[in-house]
Amino acid sequence: MGVLVCVCLPLVLLQVLLVLGSSPLAAAQQQPQPASAPPARALDAVLQEYAYRALVRRPRTGLVYNGTVPGNLTGVAVSAVRLRSGSLRRKGFAEYFQFALPTGVVVKPHVERTVLVYHNLGNWSEYYYPLLPGYSYLSPVLGLLAYDAANLSAAGLPELNIVATQSPILVSFSNVRAVVAGGPPPRCVWFDLDGVPQLQDLEASNVCSTNHHGHFAIVANSSELAPAPVPSAAIAPPVPADGSPAKGSSQGWKIAVSVVGSAIALGLLATLLLCLVRYKKVKKLEVMERNSEVGETLRMAQVGRTQAPVALWTRTQPVIESEYTA
Ligand SMILES: *[C@@H]1O[C@H](CO)[C@@H](O)[C@H](O)[C@H]1NC(C)=O
Ligand SMILES: *[C@@H]1O[C@H](CO)[C@@H](O)[C@H](O)[C@H]1NC(C)=O
Ligand SMILES: *[C@@H]1O[C@H](CO)[C@@H](O)[C@H](O)[C@H]1NC(C)=O
Ligand SMILES: *[C@@H]1O[C@H](CO)[C@@H](O)[C@H](O)[C@H]1NC(C)=O
Ligand SMILES: *[C@@H]1O[C@H](CO)[C@@H](O)[C@H](O)[C@H]1NC(C)=O
Repeated sequence: MGVLVCVCLPLVLLQVLLVLGSSPLAAAQQQPQPASAPPARALDAVLQEYAYRALVRRPRTGLVYNGTVPGNLTGVAVSAVRLRSGSLRRKGFAEYFQFALPTGVVVKPHVERTVLVYHNLGNWSEYYYPLLPGYSYLSPVLGLLAYDAANLSAAGLPELNIVATQSPILVSFSNVRAVVAGGPPPRCVWFDLDGVPQLQDLEASNVCSTNHHGHFAIVANSSELAPAPVPSAAIAPPVPADGSPAKGSSQGWKIAVSVVGSAIALGLLATLLLCLVRYKKVKKLEVMERNSEVGETLRMAQVGRTQAPVALWTRTQPVIESEYTA
């Protein structure tokens, strides 16, 4: 019974530990790899869908409709405006939030009507568009993308190219963070659809210019900022696709749990081994005792006509009394 408890208890505990541990441990190990589409591209697709939802069944051409974003994207703003491509080329669209589209802007390939989707990533800018080391955002990241307006229920639409054929599209940023005087000037950054950043000089104070679609912001060398911010992440490390920003701390928690779990498991394993060794010893002793008992009964010798147990090294052999008399 004692031996049973000794063997079974650690095993049961080990089992319980494995079951308890499997959820966070497995979660840590089987974490889905970042989806093949980069997070920023996935966001483009989500925002296209939500922007189109804002366009009611018969949206008025040239009227801006604000979209609503899912709860886990609070802080991101999205809007949509439907325009005739011909009208856009002839008249431009002068005030689309911070974007001013001059005459001569065309979409390629040509469509009859286009939807211009506006993004303001707000406090999600750094998350979706990590900056090069040493740089910080002075403005949120703004996006301007064009889609075909033929089907306003469509999802997963491909972007159309925006081409400024006469003068560039201007992006006038408001509420730009200040830099300390005397350093190198702030710069514009443009991200293409693949998220590849390109630095450009400002067109005017807080104004960037572009000839294409994409995402835009004003950045500065971090060392120029008055309160030195934490160095921003490099562009290289992949951002988790499901996008909870608290991933790091939960990862740490999982690691802590697995370390403690492993320690306990090792302890239990050691206990189990000790128990087994002791169990073996006890078993061996029992067998030896039994053998020493059985051993004597086994050594039988023919005494007269009967089998009788004999001790091996006795000096006098047992003799039946009657043989004396015979
Ligand atoms: C759309 O949102 C902007 C701010 O992002 C706001 O200034 C504007 O009034 C809104 N327009 C409508 C029609 O709600
Ligand atoms: C941005 O702010 C909203 C609240 O305004 C918050 O829910 C969200 O988590 C923030 N996003 C990031 C990346 O910090
Ligand atoms: C930022 O500026 C400092 C000095 O002004 C310079 O040493 C550093 O290389 C700059 N960093 C980047 C990323 O340009
Ligand atoms: C519009 O797109 C939706 C979703 O992809 C699709 O179900 C629908 O058939 C499309 N309508 C037309 C007229 O193509
Ligand atoms: C927001 O939630 C949707 C599901 O409702 C999910 O597909 C998406 O990845 C989430 N996005 C972020 C940034 O957490």
